[in-house]
Amino acid sequence: MSDAIAKKQEILDAFQFRFATKEYDGDRKISEEDFKFILEAGRLSPSSYGLEPWKFLIIQNPDFRERLMKIATGAARQLRGASHFIIILARTDVKFDSEYIIHHIKTIQQASDESATMLLQSLESFQHRWRLFENERALLDWSSKQTYIALANMLTAAAQIGIDSTPIEGFSFDEVNSLLESEGLLDNGTFKPSVMAAFGYRKEDPIRPKTRKNLSDIVEWV
Ligand SMILES: Cc1cc2nc3c(=O)[nH]c(=O)nc-3n(C[C@H](O)[C@H](O)[C@H](O)COP(=O)(O)O)c2cc1C
Repeated sequence: MSDAIAKKQEILDAFQFRFATKEYDGDRKISEEDFKFILEAGRLSPSSYGLEPWKFLIIQNPDFRERLMKIATGAARQLRGASHFIIILARTDVKFDSEYIIHHIKTIQQASDESATMLLQSLESFQHRWRLFENERALLDWSSKQTYIALANMLTAAAQIGIDSTPIEGFSFDEVNSLLESEGLLDNGTFKPSVMAAFGYRKEDPIRPKTRKNLSDIVEWV
């Protein structure tokens, strides 16, 4: 088999291997090196304008997990046994003229003054065209969308090294927001909870084989 064919098969095998794990083997822990690899896949993810509007909160404290279980019912079982549990936060301060955006473009992206000005103008008109100021939710949802790219990359990266995962939206936004805010984890509203993910090793294989539509049902060539 050629290298390219073998590589493609390996990647597809990882997609087949990944499933939304319901219960984790609480005795198996992900090594520090492997978990760093998963986080690195999140860090290197693309985002609109490269703004990286996310933060990865890693919830390992058992008492904190217990409190979370009560308000994140879709994660209750996973919170019990998962080796690592992440709450991905989305930034709220992503308006084109915010301090964060200006700092990010100048310091992290190292744009010259001239290109920073151009980028910010482009971002301003983009955010207007996408009607991100129409209501409070629109800008947060745009930010939150970016976090799902990091989420997906982390799930896939984990699967490629034989680590199981679960993406989780089964939580009360308001209650999780209040809990994190009361613990000082949202930097006074700079962040909001976006989506969660559990990582670890499955207790058992999935009961049913993966079901998906056929490509012909979801693809249309124009
Ligand atoms: C954004 C998102 C949120 C999800 N939330 C939950 C959840 O709260 N609890 C859960 O058990 N599964 C959750 N799932 C898992 C889906 O139900 C699962 O991915 C889907 O049924 C396809 O199955 P598979 O991932 O095993 O292939 C979520 C998936 C995604 C992508």
